[in-house]
Amino acid sequence: MTKLSMLLTMQLALVAFAATSDTCATGGVCPGTADVEVNGNLQLLQVGVSVRSADTAGGTAQAPAGADAALALAAAPAVVDQALYLDTVRDTLTGAILRTPGVKPGSGDASSLVHIPYDEQTRWQGASWCDYCYTMAGGARVQNVRDLVQKTISEGIPGDFLEAGTWRGGCSIMARVVQRAMGEGENRNTYLCDSFSGLPLSSQKKDGNAWSRMHFLEVSQKEVEDNVKHFNALDSNVHFRKGYFSQSLPKVRRS
Ligand SMILES: C[S@@+](CC[C@H](N)C(=O)[O-])C[C@H]1O[C@@H](n2cnc3c(N)ncnc32)[C@H](O)[C@@H]1O
Repeated sequence: MTKLSMLLTMQLALVAFAATSDTCATGGVCPGTADVEVNGNLQLLQVGVSVRSADTAGGTAQAPAGADAALALAAAPAVVDQALYLDTVRDTLTGAILRTPGVKPGSGDASSLVHIPYDEQTRWQGASWCDYCYTMAGGARVQNVRDLVQKTISEGIPGDFLEAGTWRGGCSIMARVVQRAMGEGENRNTYLCDSFSGLPLSSQKKDGNAWSRMHFLEVSQKEVEDNVKHFNALDSNVHFRKGYFSQSLPKVRRS
């Protein structure tokens, strides 16, 4: 890779951490999110559905009044509101839509950790771990990934996206979905770098090994690949780099 923009998630996290909202996940306007006008699009979809059902009625159905106008609308390219789509992806990734439980950080796997009820503000801030979600980064940081990838593309800045420490892959999924939604899927790559087996043992006497016992942080590459696939975002421009960063990242830099 010649022009790799290393948008490390941890750095993004610091930038976005201050952005919070009480209302965004339940329909309010989130920081950095444009207001969305959807009525026109919904009307268009409804018209399209009624025309299709007339078409498939075996040719005997009488065309309804106004069918010419409806057919003209149905023939128009499908309109998908990009901001609304990306909001929905973001809130699905963080578990905000399903209001999935939080998890108290600690050693062990999901079954041995304490689950706590969903809290909108905590989830937006990414202030605790979450279960049944694709990223623990929280809404503000995932929004920041989205904003930065959008800005990079809209300003014509060349480069790829790399996440060092993917866990279940949610931030990379957000980045890849933005790349594709903006028509840049073929031109840009997304790199997911992780041990896919949790944190390493400490390498120095002064560090403890507590992190390496946090099995909740261990997610296999196969599981992450499946997660990317669920968002229809897995393709040949998505690359997995398995291994501890000390080994994997220098190779990415050189490639
Ligand atoms: C806190 S989670 C990352 C959360 C993730 N960015 C998200 O959006 O949910 C830390 C991840 O980094 C990985 N990791 C931590 N230290 C690592 C290292 N030295 N080498 C490779 N992977 C590492 C872990 O396996 C884990 O998946």
